[in-house]
Amino acid sequence: MKLPFSVSFILFSFLVWGNDASPKRSTYIIHMDKSSMPKAFSSHHSWYHSLVKSASSGAKLIYTYDHAFQGFSAVMSSDELQAIKKSDGFASASLSRSVTHDTTHSTKFLGLNTVTGLWPASQYGKDVIIGIIDSGIWPESPSFNDDGMTEVPSSWKGTCQTGPDFNSSLCNKKLIGARFFDAASREAGSEIYTSARDNDGHGTHVASTAAGNFVNNVSFFGYAPGTARGVAPRARLAAYKTGSYEADTLAAIDQAVADGVHIISISLRYESADLFRNTIAAATFGARAKGIIVCKSAGNSGPSIATMEAGIPWELVVASGTIDRWFAGTITLGNGKTITGWTMFPARASVINVPLDYNETVSACDSSELLSQSFLTRIVVCNITDEAISFNSLMGNLVGSNAAAAIIISEDTSILRSNSFRFPGAVITPAEAVNLIEYATTSASPTATISFQETIIGPEPRVAPALSGSSSRGPAQSYQEILKPDIMAPGVLILAAYSPVQLGPQIGNIFLSSDYSLESGTSMATPHIAGVAALLKAAHPEWSPAAIQSAMMTTANHLDSTNQPIKDQAFSSYRVASPLGIGSGQVDPNRALDPGLVYDATPLDLANLVCSMNYTREQVRAIIRSNYNCSGANSDLNYPSFIGLFNFDQRGLTLTRTFKRTVTNIGSGAATYRMKLEKPENATVTVTPQTLVFRKKYEKQSYTLRMRYRGDIDSTSRQGSLTWIEKSGKYVVRSPIVIAGGVDNYG
Ligand SMILES: *[C@@H]1O[C@H](CO)[C@@H](O)[C@H](O)[C@H]1NC(C)=O
Ligand SMILES: *[C@@H]1O[C@H](CO)[C@@H](O)[C@H](O)[C@H]1NC(C)=O
Ligand SMILES: *[C@@H]1O[C@H](CO)[C@@H](O)[C@H](O)[C@H]1NC(C)=O
Ligand SMILES: *[C@@H]1O[C@H](CO)[C@@H](O)[C@H](O)[C@H]1NC(C)=O
Ligand SMILES: *[C@@H]1O[C@H](CO)[C@@H](O)[C@H](O)[C@H]1NC(C)=O
Ligand SMILES: *[C@@H]1O[C@H](CO)[C@@H](O)[C@H](O)[C@H]1NC(C)=O
Ligand SMILES: *[C@@H]1O[C@H](CO)[C@@H](O)[C@H](O)[C@H]1NC(C)=O
Repeated sequence: MKLPFSVSFILFSFLVWGNDASPKRSTYIIHMDKSSMPKAFSSHHSWYHSLVKSASSGAKLIYTYDHAFQGFSAVMSSDELQAIKKSDGFASASLSRSVTHDTTHSTKFLGLNTVTGLWPASQYGKDVIIGIIDSGIWPESPSFNDDGMTEVPSSWKGTCQTGPDFNSSLCNKKLIGARFFDAASREAGSEIYTSARDNDGHGTHVASTAAGNFVNNVSFFGYAPGTARGVAPRARLAAYKTGSYEADTLAAIDQAVADGVHIISISLRYESADLFRNTIAAATFGARAKGIIVCKSAGNSGPSIATMEAGIPWELVVASGTIDRWFAGTITLGNGKTITGWTMFPARASVINVPLDYNETVSACDSSELLSQSFLTRIVVCNITDEAISFNSLMGNLVGSNAAAAIIISEDTSILRSNSFRFPGAVITPAEAVNLIEYATTSASPTATISFQETIIGPEPRVAPALSGSSSRGPAQSYQEILKPDIMAPGVLILAAYSPVQLGPQIGNIFLSSDYSLESGTSMATPHIAGVAALLKAAHPEWSPAAIQSAMMTTANHLDSTNQPIKDQAFSSYRVASPLGIGSGQVDPNRALDPGLVYDATPLDLANLVCSMNYTREQVRAIIRSNYNCSGANSDLNYPSFIGLFNFDQRGLTLTRTFKRTVTNIGSGAATYRMKLEKPENATVTVTPQTLVFRKKYEKQSYTLRMRYRGDIDSTSRQGSLTWIEKSGKYVVRSPIVIAGGVDNYG
């Protein structure tokens, strides 16, 4: 997994250092209230330009924004910034921070099929446009072929921007736009390829997962062979490549809104605890207010609780889960017994009847020197259950040894997310190792055979979906009063298109590359949700973003394929996953097509939520601008999930929280729903009324949920659910309830 998203915690800002004479300048993002623009200016652009010029001749305008966000970014000194702050219409300013990046059997796993349900109902997402804010695109990938696509609608305003190694003729009826935004990164001196071409692979993977066309006969070095396709194979794609600074990403989102995308998918990570300082959150608010659904990765900082940085109320935040696919190597012992191990060794190695050595002294395999002495051309057994050495270091030691192959004993589930397996071998659990060790230590001349490149589909050996250990957990640091993440989608070892110039897995010390790669992370889960959103939008053009989100959430499955609650892969015991990890559960696209009831919310409702956030007037204005005012502040957003929080100093106290909710009947006609409640442990929950009667379609009914709970304990959340069940059983509308310590409990 080479996603810098999960690993690096990049600097807060960058500074441009001049020579002694010039002041120290940084890139700032300035939020402006356009309604204050003096009449003398013909456009926001000339106004902002003039402001920057009048601040100082040394200040430099980088971008102007107008669609998702109003304002501009500029390189300025703090004195120059002070001058701008005095201007009419100034709302707020912040430093432009770094942004980093956060993978097709998964469509089948989600139940999408050509016969019934959401695929045929939506004509595979026909004509919906998904904007991908990421590392660009590899336009020649077969996944972006436009076979079967109709003409691009004339309403589309985007372009295919020419740049080095990127010809505007590379776009087509599938990939209808490609642009790049690197001005802020160039100011910062970072090297960035000035075209929309994706040399990284991440953006290409995300885009093809959301809406790649059908491509036969692909695999990752023999693993996961089959037909690649995106979730919405007839939707269109527009790629917005962003440099690694916030000002660039903001420009990309602003342009996507201007171009006319319907859905935005963002698998990026930007540091920001405070909502009002998060310009990207302000831009996604602007996008959402224009009817655009914004899907955003939860992050890869799990499994600890409260590891989610963003978690913005108006973004559809996506957690990552496993699918029912296992990449296997079969170990056949000399006595005929077989063990199915995990391997992704990217070649067909020949390991046939090779002597098997189990040497207790060196079984930790923590020294390549010892390994080279004792295991000349044999299969070595390495026991790394005590995690004294990492899987990667182990691979390094094995590559430096004389062993022929390795059998690795481990319970570390993160190995099951890695696509890197440099040395021929397979991973087995301590329980599976018992027979092996007995045979190795009692047989006079033990041998084994290992086969590679096997792909197993089904609930064995591990039930799916399970929550990925690395998926970030709520409560969200920026705003914790709404349960985040919202939903889970496949994000572990997803096969999708990739950049052939990116170095992929290794054999020994040799790097391989591939047109299709298996990648893991919430980055890969997010475009699955963007794809489902596109399908729903195509099937129901009249649904609001909130209705589409609600449909996905209330029909999500909190059970796995064996009908047991979804488990959390972070723990070798696989305990039940919390809504703080999986939100409402695994997306179920076919059920989302016809959810029965929806929890709708307008942009005004979102503005009223921001108004309730105990921010200053300026801070509120930084997010909602002048389009709304705060006369109707209301923290109780009509949302399809419930969270009861307590803070550190509320431990031992009894707390109550009341939620008012309104559901809209979008089923076929008159309907009666009855309530089913699963209470979180040690909590009292009452719902009134307990029956909702609708006489016709589009009628609304309201109910109140009141929760009493004690603020005890620690890091374990308590969970339950409220489900409205339609009398005939046709519709089941479920919302998770969770009680959890707030972010300040985990400091
Ligand atoms: C772009 O591609 C077209 C068609 O392949 C070709 O005629 C044209 O010269 C190319 N333009 C550039 C700038 O490379
Ligand atoms: C699939 O691809 C492999 C490797 O590229 C090739 O050898 C094989 O002939 C292809 N099979 C089909 C049915 O196209
Ligand atoms: C195990 O490895 C150690 C260290 O190399 C060696 O001294 C010892 O002889 C080995 N034992 C067996 C049974 O091969
Ligand atoms: C592997 O190592 C663990 C922890 O050190 C130990 O408890 C276990 O017995 C070992 N298993 C084998 C088969 O060596
Ligand atoms: C609201 O903000 C003020 C000033 O920052 C603070 O003193 C107060 O405790 C906050 N109230 C709540 C409910 O968070
Ligand atoms: C703000 O609220 C006032 C009073 O309710 C209303 O008259 C005005 O139109 C509102 N402004 C906007 C932009 O919604
Ligand atoms: C529920 O309450 C009982 C009794 O106070 C306590 O022992 C138990 O730990 C509580 N359970 C949870 C999950 O808080």
